[in-house]
Amino acid sequence: MDTQSKIQKLREEIRQHDYKYYVLGDPSIADQEYDRLMRELIDLEKAHPDLITPDSPTQRVGGEPTREFPTMIHDVPMLSLGNTYSEEELKDFEKRIKNNLPDESVQFVAELKFDGIALSLVYENGSLVRAVTRGDGERGDDVTANVRTIRAIPLTLFRKEGLPKNIEVRGEVFMPLKGFRKMNREQEARGEKLFANPRNATAGTLKLQDPKLVAKRPLDFTAYYLRITEDDFPSEPETHLQSIHMLRDLGLPVSRYVALCNSMWDVLDFCNEWEEKRDDLPFEIDGVVIKVNQLNLQEQLGSTAKSPRWAIAYKFKARQAATVLKQIHLQVGRTGTITPVAVLEPVLLAGSTISRATLHNEDEITRKDIREGDAVLIEKGGDVIPKVVQVLLEKRNADSKPFRMPQQCPVCHGPIHRVEGEAAIRCENIACPAQVHRRIEHFASRTAMDIEGLGEAVVLQLVESRLIADYGDLYSLTKHRLLDLERMGEKSADNLLNAIEASKKRPLDRVIFALGIRHVGSGAAMILADEFGSIRALSESSFAQLEAINTIGPTIAESLVQFFGQPENIQVIGKLKQAGVQMEEIRKKKGNGIFSGKTFVLTGALPRFTRESATELIESEGGKVTSSVSKKTDYILVGENPGSKYAKAISLGVEVMDEDTFMGFLTKAKKRSFSDETQLKIEF
Ligand code: IVH
Repeated sequence: MDTQSKIQKLREEIRQHDYKYYVLGDPSIADQEYDRLMRELIDLEKAHPDLITPDSPTQRVGGEPTREFPTMIHDVPMLSLGNTYSEEELKDFEKRIKNNLPDESVQFVAELKFDGIALSLVYENGSLVRAVTRGDGERGDDVTANVRTIRAIPLTLFRKEGLPKNIEVRGEVFMPLKGFRKMNREQEARGEKLFANPRNATAGTLKLQDPKLVAKRPLDFTAYYLRITEDDFPSEPETHLQSIHMLRDLGLPVSRYVALCNSMWDVLDFCNEWEEKRDDLPFEIDGVVIKVNQLNLQEQLGSTAKSPRWAIAYKFKARQAATVLKQIHLQVGRTGTITPVAVLEPVLLAGSTISRATLHNEDEITRKDIREGDAVLIEKGGDVIPKVVQVLLEKRNADSKPFRMPQQCPVCHGPIHRVEGEAAIRCENIACPAQVHRRIEHFASRTAMDIEGLGEAVVLQLVESRLIADYGDLYSLTKHRLLDLERMGEKSADNLLNAIEASKKRPLDRVIFALGIRHVGSGAAMILADEFGSIRALSESSFAQLEAINTIGPTIAESLVQFFGQPENIQVIGKLKQAGVQMEEIRKKKGNGIFSGKTFVLTGALPRFTRESATELIESEGGKVTSSVSKKTDYILVGENPGSKYAKAISLGVEVMDEDTFMGFLTKAKKRSFSDETQLKIEF
């Protein structure tokens, strides 16, 4: 056999095994045997690089790291689903459909609602050419290079009965629980942040900039929608179930948990069955999706602006369990805020053992009259951390006493203080060891100075071994000293030092944010960086100057003045400057920026910005913000729960921008202004 044929045969064999493993769920060979085939193919391709094709199974990780994901418009918008929470609402859904289609006998399909990220895959001539996230439904991120690494997603399709040339497949990328737990254990061991739930882990993974890292994450996929975009393809499916069968024939993984239902009673049975059995599944679901089976009827029913009339989601209730609250533990955060945490008698909930739950703050404890020793009901929503919902009063001990917040910090025993008008209580001692750790952790975190490898565990080690007392000391760490730490090898020490070195180049707004000044989030930090241009100018500003800035209120102004008024803080900042951390920014002339001449309309709540701060930033980049949408609007900046402006903007074809994209533009603008040498530089 010639090499070309040999390569062809190996690829075909590997594809068949992938199909059996991922689509049929019936592996046909041992892992070692599979690895051996792959090895053989890799070796052959290495010897004959001219024979490598992009759809070879060896080419899943081919792409280079990307900084940004291009935005893609979906040919057909990716709608969301209406939600129902009760039998009643499901019956209403059925009634609406029957009213719309009085003469039809409508069939329903019920299937599990996977809790992951919706994805659109485009195959041309059988090859995967594009993978785009749902985004805002109109447009999403092109994450093709990352998605190619997901082995459940075939790079090429095959079908005995003939292949439709061009198709779009939609489905859910998700992370099975076993892989999710393993990944979180690894994150913990590295001292890195844990993912709250598999869905967040999936979203975070798809946004990684390096496909090689994505390839290591345990992502899976299930397809639930097929659109053949080629005219006159024979034997097009006529029902949703036929679509699912065709997807499977094409080599795509589809869900095994699908039921054809002739009435809402069957649908309800399916919903109840899976609500009960959801913890037995190897992945997370958050409900059931009910769809009209006949595709012609789906078309007749059509859609509203947001969701189809032929499908609906039935959402499960949050999972609850009863247990005993053994103790209320007080945790001290970065700014001294003391958060009560419930230490529980371990209990099994949603497939994992729970021993802690959040209690939010003192008011919450008072309101629910939660006491140590109480029997309580805990609840788990989509997140890993559960909460205490209520006390089971009938089980309360006769001698139980209301919980009283202590008058001292549980860590440093210094005085604590409740800020007027706020629910939080705080330890006022800035040298409190608990605060010291958390401040350093915050400084190093991804959205601040982004020092990889400097997570909770390493910070704790560094502080406890007295190598550092504050974040300024990070920059004088040496390899020699680091190697004295337990579990710190040559390689990790080098990596850590490199990461610390790299952090010196972070833009000013990141540095301001990293300082950990109360109430100064990343949005406010951007404004302050723009407004003052250097840490020095910021530190010398007065309350009046700060408050005069449109978007900086008295709380932030007060907090800044207080922060820079403390000699300890000035001393730490001195260490940063000494080490060569970037402390200034090149000033930009107003009205001359990336949004120059562009008109924006804002709608919905933006998690990271107030309306005023977003406006300020747009204006500082030369743009203008108006209140109503018209043909002249260039962008609509969309947050959570957008209003009617959103629909109007879509109908006028106005470009939609989400918060991440907006942040992306601003970050890019910052980088550019650094390299523009003609502008004024301010010295600290
Ligand atoms: S159908 C217009 N089927 O749920 C039809 N969606 O809340 C929309 N989802 O964005 C999708 N499992 O991410 C469909 N079996 C399933 C699903 C499913 C999970 C997600 C999907 C969608 C969201 C809508």
